[in-house]
Amino acid sequence: MSDTIRITRAATLKPHPKDSELAFGTVFTDHMFRMDYKEGKGWFDPRIEPYAPFLLEPAAAVLHYAQEVFEGLKAFRGVDGKVRLFRPQKHVERMANSAKRMCIPPLDPELALKSFLTLVGVEKEWVPATVGTSLYVRPTIIANEAFLGVRPAHAYLYFVILSPVGAYYPEGMAPVKILVVDKYVRAVEGGVGGVKTAGNYAASLYASEEAKHAGFTQVLWLDGVHRKYIDEVGTMNIMVKIGDEVITPPLTGTILPGVTRDSALTLMREWDLKVSERQISIDEAILAHKQGTLKEVWGTGTAAVISPVGELTYKGEKMVINGGEIGPLTRKLYDAIVAIQYAQAPDAHNWTVEV
Ligand code: COI
Repeated sequence: MSDTIRITRAATLKPHPKDSELAFGTVFTDHMFRMDYKEGKGWFDPRIEPYAPFLLEPAAAVLHYAQEVFEGLKAFRGVDGKVRLFRPQKHVERMANSAKRMCIPPLDPELALKSFLTLVGVEKEWVPATVGTSLYVRPTIIANEAFLGVRPAHAYLYFVILSPVGAYYPEGMAPVKILVVDKYVRAVEGGVGGVKTAGNYAASLYASEEAKHAGFTQVLWLDGVHRKYIDEVGTMNIMVKIGDEVITPPLTGTILPGVTRDSALTLMREWDLKVSERQISIDEAILAHKQGTLKEVWGTGTAAVISPVGELTYKGEKMVINGGEIGPLTRKLYDAIVAIQYAQAPDAHNWTVEV
């Protein structure tokens, strides 16, 4: 297969929003990446085209059985004006794992990386410059064969779209209020909680809406078997600091292996902090709160970055964390990651790739 990417430029270009007006995922750039797959032929015709709706058969498998995977990564404009993607290879790897679990044929990892870099290169002018803003990259693979039998499809579409974004939560960096749910579950071991596939997000909506109506920003999921151990938030992984120990749930297949999670763990280990990837029950967190040792709670995610949690409510009991203020380690992690992303600090781990 030729991996030369054809480029067709848009005839008219859209106006760019001001950095100060950027929300999350509402504005899309002028171009998108596309590539097709047919059984027997493999992946073919990688191309960049004007951003536009595409034709999809009403019988397309993705619409009925959700055979789909996606990713989310970001491009940043550094203080030196250069544009860099944050850990794109890690996202390529995760997309490959997700695709395998969803019976989607593998992409050539080099071509996947090239799809991000070439598209962001074409749309470089769209990368905002203010710290806290970025160009969000959304690669997606859908099963587009028109067929209603339940089996892996024989045709797929891979596409990448770009969206200039600001903070994911309307609160920005203000601590969020989270409801711990035990009425609904997100994932169980052996299921698909550990892969980035659409159904996980659709399945989370009902509980999230209930929580929103009750005044919370998000829900914290407990494990699906005991409804006891902390899992993740759905849009981010969770980290808890009790005494001197930072605890985050282990990767047992029920939570997403977050790229920001990995970056935060790497940094904290370098800072010689006590970091444990282990199960933590909600009761352990409640007890620590009662004893005054629950110091900080934060979420990590590409969209959410490092997001302080100011309140956790479980069975009607509200735990205010660090007086509802952003904690010192949460702040330090946010600052360290942001400094690397915007090239304000050296990138000792080679996490960024210049476009
Ligand atoms: C991300 O952090 O990139 C996500 O995919 C979370 C959410 C916006 C779906």
